Parts: sequence; C-alpha cells; structure tokens
Amino acid sequence: MATEPQKKPRAEDDWTWEIVLLVVGSLALLSAAWLAARLGASFVGEPDPPGNPVSFAVALVTGDYAWPGGAANAIAAAEALLVAGLVTAGYRMRQRLQNRPDVDRAARHMVDGTDLGKLTMKGAAATAERLGVQAQVPGVFIGRSVKGRQPLFGSFEDMHVDIWGPRTGKTTRRAIPAILNAPGAVLVTSNKRDIVDGTRGPRQARGQVWVFDPQQVAQEPPTWWWNPLSYVTDVAKARKLADHFASGSRDADASTDAFFDPAGQDLLANLLLAAATAKAPLTQIYTWLSNPKDDTPERILRSAGHTMPADSVSGVITAPDKQRSGIYGVAQQMASCLINPEVNKWVTPIGPADGRPEFDPREFVRTGSTLYSLSREGSDSAGPLVTALTVAVVEAAEEYATTQRGGRLSLPMVGVLDEAANVCRWRALPDLYSHYGSRGIVLMTILQSWAQGVEVWGDRGMEKLWSAANIRVYGGGVSDTRFLGDLSELAGEYELREYSATQEAEFGGWSGNRTVNESVRRERVLQVSDLGAMPPGRALVLASGTKPVLVETIPWWEGPYAREVKASLSKYDPGAAR
Ligand SMILES: Nc1ncnc2c1ncn2[C@@H]1O[C@H](COP(=O)(O)OP(=O)(O)OP(=O)(O)O)[C@@H](O)[C@H]1O
Ligand SMILES: [Mg+2]
Repeated sequence: MATEPQKKPRAEDDWTWEIVLLVVGSLALLSAAWLAARLGASFVGEPDPPGNPVSFAVALVTGDYAWPGGAANAIAAAEALLVAGLVTAGYRMRQRLQNRPDVDRAARHMVDGTDLGKLTMKGAAATAERLGVQAQVPGVFIGRSVKGRQPLFGSFEDMHVDIWGPRTGKTTRRAIPAILNAPGAVLVTSNKRDIVDGTRGPRQARGQVWVFDPQQVAQEPPTWWWNPLSYVTDVAKARKLADHFASGSRDADASTDAFFDPAGQDLLANLLLAAATAKAPLTQIYTWLSNPKDDTPERILRSAGHTMPADSVSGVITAPDKQRSGIYGVAQQMASCLINPEVNKWVTPIGPADGRPEFDPREFVRTGSTLYSLSREGSDSAGPLVTALTVAVVEAAEEYATTQRGGRLSLPMVGVLDEAANVCRWRALPDLYSHYGSRGIVLMTILQSWAQGVEVWGDRGMEKLWSAANIRVYGGGVSDTRFLGDLSELAGEYELREYSATQEAEFGGWSGNRTVNESVRRERVLQVSDLGAMPPGRALVLASGTKPVLVETIPWWEGPYAREVKASLSKYDPGAAR
C-alpha cells in the first residue's frame, strides 16, 4: 500500500524558495539580455558583448559596453514574447490540471500499467485470441484509466453490470460506444429513442436494423412482426414466456397471492402452449381469457398430446366460480398488454395475407444485424414482449453457439440492456448471467440504482447478478449510502503520512525549538461522499481479477464514430436541426 505524504509544513523564517527564485530569475533575465545583445551586435556589425552574462552586466553598469540597440531590441522583444507565451501555456496547463475533478486524486492510490492485467488492450486482445474470437476489436470498451490514461476493455467472455444514476451518461458514454464497437450482432433494449437515433445509421452500414417499437417510443411503423408463439416449442418454453408476462406486470417484492398468482401464471402458460400448438395468433390468448368457460384450449392441448396442461386447464374451467374467475383475472392482468391493437400489430399478422417479413431470432444471430427493443415502463407496458423477444434472441444465440468452436460464438453478440429494470424484467437473468459469458454472448445490464435491480430480482437476485458480472461499473449519481459504502470499502485504503509542527517556547518566548511530528493514518481511497458526488465522465470499475480502477468515460462525441452518430441523429432524431 502506498503512503501519501502530506505537504510538510514550512518554517516561518524559511526564505529558501524565494531566494532561489530571485537568483534564478535574475540569471535568466541577464542571460536573455546577453543573448539579445550578442545576436543583435553581430547582426549590425557592432562589437560583441563580454563572454558571459555576469561580466556583460558589470560592463553595462560600468559603461564599458553600450547596448547595441536596433536588432538587439527586436530580439529582446521576441524573447519577451516567447517567455510570455510559455508562461501563459504553463498557466493554462496548470488550470486544466486544477479543473480535473477532485475524485481524480484517488486514482493515485489505484493500480495502473501491467497491474490492470486483462483489462488493458493487450490483455483483452490476448483473451480474444485464446477464445478464437474473429473480431477487429479486443473487447467491449469501458473507458480510459485516469492514472496512466490507458484504454480499458472487457473481454468477450466478460459480463457487465452498470449502475449509473439518472442523466449521468449511461446512454452516451456506455451504451452507444458499446453498440458501435460491437463486432457482430447487437441487441438493445431501452425506453427512450435516443439510443436508436444515434446508432441505427452506423449499424445499418453493417447489417439489417430491426426496431421493435410496440408502444411507439421511436414512432417506428410496424413494417415487420415477430410471433412470440414461434418461441413456444414445448411446455418449458411456454412456462418461460408466461413468466415474462408475470414479471413484467408486477415487482419482485409486490404482494402476491400464494394461490392465485402461480395458478394464473400456469393458466397463461397452458393457453400460450395451446395457441402455439393450434398455430393461432397471440391475441387468441386474450379471447380465451375473456371466456373462462371456453374449453377450446383444453381440447387443443389434449389432441396434441399435452395431457397434463390439458388437465390443468380443465381443472380451472371446472373450478368453483369464484376460484375460476380469480385465476382468469390474474392471467388476464398478466397478459394485459395484448389488449392494445397497436401493440398487437407487432406480434400478430395483419390480415390473412400479411406480406411483412417475420423476424426470426435464429436467422438474426447468424448475421451482423441490430435489434432495438423498445417499450415504456408502467402498467400498460409492452415490457413483457420486449423481454420475450430479448430472451428468444439470446437463447437462439446460445443454440447457435453450441454449433461453434468451444461452444461459443466466434463473432460475439453484444446485448446492451439499457434501462433493463424498466423494460426487460428477465427474472432468470441473474442465474444465467455468467453462463452466457462462456457462450460469447456479452450482456451489459444498465440500471439506475441498486434498488431498481432489487425491484426486479429481489435482494438475493440482485446480489447474484452483481457477483455474476465480471465488469461492474459505477458511474455516479447514486445516493444509496449502503451501496456506496460497499463500493468505498472495495476501493480499499491507503496510508496518509501527516506532519504537525510544535514550537517549544524558551526564554520567555524569545527562542525555542521547533519540532515536526510525523504520524501515519489509514484513509479510504474513495469516501462515500466522493462516490456520491462522482462527476459525469468518471466511473469506478470493479473487475474480477484486478483491483478497482477509476476511469474516464468517453462520450460518443469524443469517440472515433462521432461523425457517424451525428449523421445518424440528424437523419433520424425528429428534434435535430436539419
Ligand atoms: N450530443 C451531446 N452533446 C453534449 N451533451 C449531451 C449530448 N447528448 C446528451 N448530452 C448530455 O449528456 C448527459 C448524459 O446523457 P445520457 O442520455 O447519456 O444520460 P443517461 O444516464 O442515459 O440519462 P437517462 O437516465 O435519461 O437515460 C445529459 O446531461 C445530456 O444532456
Ligand atoms: Mg439513457
């Protein structure tokens, strides 16, 4: 651990500095005058001044030598200008250094250079080579270390979790650079259009762009559709899909009914399976849910050999009225986003001969295409459909990965789950997180606070997600002292050397010994208050296998693709000046 010495107090009668400054300054001035005289004299053919600045000064004073004037004056003026320029540049540089955020001082106690190991470009490139990744970039860019200014990357087997408060730069400094640096297919979730407008232009140049926008977040017309029932190929997948509808419609810690909630979710899963089996559109679910006595789904399931789901549906239909309506009511509420006809255009065919292309997750993961999945938060959110589409794509990527070397995608897929807690409430995510890393599916879950994660995954789930991530980034703007306290502890301590001066008075205060005492105290590298007040552009990165590091995050407009993003924004952002 490094010990930081505090500035040693100066004795009151210590003029050493001032004297040194005066002597050096006078010598520099004399030398400049001597040089001007020498050059000026040779220019106009006058006699040379004495051989060195000191004898030159003496000769000037005694009148043995006369200032050559003319050219010497011009040279002296040029020298003065040069010095003024240097002083101004020095002053500006000092001001720039002083303008650096206070938090940067903490970086002095952090690791740099080779201690950053696999996070450095070299380290990430070595991992990419070991994994057999065929990408132009070494990994997913995180930022530049404040100490040593090294670019840092997460490798293609690292999973990211980011906690940045509102308006701290999640989209501009983290999501957009990750999307634009991604080597293969990209999956994006969000509740705002900024991320789509800024990146769809450059992404279009690399492959097809799909914008899933059932709630018209980006005013995207439904020129294509996706059938969530195409995902339902068996009972397990029907249950998973029902789980997305359930988790999208309530919080993890919301009070649930121990009987009706699971029963409603089971019913929904069975109806999804029935609709998928009958090749009916997704909206059929809502029709069935509105007619609790309709036994069509039971008959479909039974004739397809799904005996147990059929029995389960029949059990609900024949249950006492109150029980049946309770279970149907819960299921209906979970599937409530399907009531909106605008939403349905994205997940069901329009008319009997719908000519729009149908999105196929299996095909998508084999290309360098980009999928944006957008929805608003809230009770009528299309979040369950966004989650379902995200899961379908990630699972298709996993399936594709098993056919490749080492069971991982040779061209990794990057999933940027911006506003994950609002629009992609994927309950199983913490359990699967580290597994996807080993498949070449790099996910970046971006949250506004720890509490937001707890809302979706519960305390244990959020802990699990945080520890399953290899790259944990805190980008400021959070006031949860418990979370910040944990980060502060992880950032470690350093030893601070302090000095205190005491003056012993003797002879009635006329004389005495001055003693300087030295003491060493341990301090946190980053206090909770430093983390709470972390300015935009700074982030603390906790990566597994390396010590914490403070980084400077780079917004897209300072990145290599600034021009492409600007062009994309002016083309797609309705608020951009054209
Ligand atoms: N092109 C730009 N140039 C300069 N500043 C910008 C630009 N675009 C956005 N900003 C500013 O950068 C800051 C961070 O914006 P950003 O959208 O990345 O934050 P965020 O954390 O994603 O916010 P939110 O919580 O709203 O999603 C904001 O103050 C925003 O006004
Ligand atoms: Mg944002």
